[in-house]
Amino acid sequence: MALKQAVFLITFLTLTHGQQQALLDYLERRLLAIEDRISVWHDQTNRYATELRDFKQQIVGVLENVEKERETLRSDMENVNTRVDRMEREMDYLETQHPAPPCVEVDDKLVEQQVTKVKEKNKGKYEKLTDCRDMISSIKAMKIVKRIGGPIGLWTKDPVAESDKVYVFNSSHGHVIYEFATIRELTSSLGLTRARKIKLPFPWAGSGHTIYDGYAYYIKEGQEFQVIKFDLKNESVVDSAVFPSEEQVPVYGLSPQTYIDLAADEEGLWAIYATKENEKNICLAKMDPKTLDIEQMWDTPCPRENAESAFVICGTVYVVYNTKLPSRSRVQCVFDVSDMVTSEDAPLVYFPKRYGSHSSLKYNPNEKQIYAWDDGYQILYKLSMKQKLDV
Ligand SMILES: *[C@@H]1O[C@H](CO)[C@@H](O)[C@H](O)[C@H]1NC(C)=O
Ligand SMILES: *[C@@H]1O[C@H](CO)[C@@H](O)[C@H](O)[C@H]1NC(C)=O
Repeated sequence: MALKQAVFLITFLTLTHGQQQALLDYLERRLLAIEDRISVWHDQTNRYATELRDFKQQIVGVLENVEKERETLRSDMENVNTRVDRMEREMDYLETQHPAPPCVEVDDKLVEQQVTKVKEKNKGKYEKLTDCRDMISSIKAMKIVKRIGGPIGLWTKDPVAESDKVYVFNSSHGHVIYEFATIRELTSSLGLTRARKIKLPFPWAGSGHTIYDGYAYYIKEGQEFQVIKFDLKNESVVDSAVFPSEEQVPVYGLSPQTYIDLAADEEGLWAIYATKENEKNICLAKMDPKTLDIEQMWDTPCPRENAESAFVICGTVYVVYNTKLPSRSRVQCVFDVSDMVTSEDAPLVYFPKRYGSHSSLKYNPNEKQIYAWDDGYQILYKLSMKQKLDV
């Protein structure tokens, strides 16, 4: 640089005065032009900075508005939620105060006819096998044990065999029963990995099977419905019987996968089913677990519509109802084979809040609790009991 300046100075000194003046003028003009441009840049930069600041302020304003609107929306939602909760409680209360008459028919004549028909069919007196007089009074507690498998299924424990084993039928069709040594094994199992797999020779269908005294009693779907009695110890079919009714329909309006629901109670083995012939209402049959004989059949006054499941306690069938969009499940119709309990005497029992729909409710008479499958969750409902009154 110093060299360049020196060269410039020497060149400058060699010029004539006129030439020097012209060069200085030229340099002066160039400097002014550069200064102008610098000041233009400066202005532009300033303008950009101002615009940027304005823009930033606008954005901040917009964001604040959005945040405010979100707050309003959130508090609106909370309000709505509270109101829905309150409404649900009020509806529950109202329903408790004025239970919907569960078995009403619009046409009185029809009711009379049906009642006569029911009586005809039910006329044989039921001979009780035990002196059990329990009826459900309320659900004392619930326990969610696990979530395993799909929305439809069944889990249960053998109420007769002295064992802690529990059995899982996952989904509405299958070849395999999963046996867990204890409930603890089930809860600590990753999926169904800790289970003993019991392969069945014929596939099961629906979620109406049961385990009783060392045997699985399960429904095989085919041309007609068959009850298969399967020995769980040596894994072989012991007996089978075709269910003695034509044209079966799904027994519960809200659980289309189940045509026959086998239930165990203090008295033994029952089948809850429905047929085309009497497709409005649910039927009940008493089975002999040894021979699979049907000993007696009843038409119950309990409608199929909006039923999701049922269970039997001491010879009384309790049908559980819900709505298509799942709300609270409730026992809303009962039928007692020994005529000691009617729907009017039975308390309206609500199940605690739940996930979806009960695809099975399996009562265990020793433990007085229900093994329930609700949308993939395995739940235990502990029951409070009271005594049936004599008529
Ligand atoms: C259980 O059944 C569901 C279908 O309902 C299926 O998606 C799932 O894989 C099954 N679980 C096991 C462990 O087989
Ligand atoms: C399995 O046990 C039953 C008794 O429950 C018996 O009748 C049957 O013959 C046995 N089957 C086999 C294959 O051992």
